[in-house]
Amino acid sequence: MSFSAISLTGSKPEQYAQLLEQARALLHGERDRVANAANLSALVYNALPDLNWVGFYFYDGHELVVGPFQGLPACVRIPLHKGVCGAAASTRQTQRIEDVHAFPGHIACDSASNSELVVPLVDDAGHLVGVFDLDSPLAARFSVEDQEGLERIARAYLESLR
Ligand code: SME
Repeated sequence: MSFSAISLTGSKPEQYAQLLEQARALLHGERDRVANAANLSALVYNALPDLNWVGFYFYDGHELVVGPFQGLPACVRIPLHKGVCGAAASTRQTQRIEDVHAFPGHIACDSASNSELVVPLVDDAGHLVGVFDLDSPLAARFSVEDQEGLERIARAYLESLR
């Protein structure tokens, strides 16, 4: 299979609708969580502007362990009480952080990161699967529309694992 990304057009909600469609097509018929996380990271990293890291951390029952991603090498393990990823995992609430340097306990994996969006991944049974993490070199890169669009993509990922 070859995959050519369609460039996104229109308003932000329209662009996220197109991205979600591409994500669903990419995940269709595959349940492997590593394969789907890898392809989704590549899709999102290449489709959206101003990102320096996009990827997954998986919960191993104790802490978050880095999974497939695009960007520079990252911290391997993140305890649930640390950083933006830990906050998303432990509160199960998306963390949309305009200035990571002002976030207590932020883990600077890549010094280029200035803003961050982390979506918790919780399955239908209520188990924490991990987090979907996006970093940007821009301050306040992620709007509420970005959050909603990326939460839908995270949901498509969870649905692909069923
Ligand atoms: N900055 C994150 C750590 C993960 S990296 O951004 C890839 C945090 O504080 O959780």
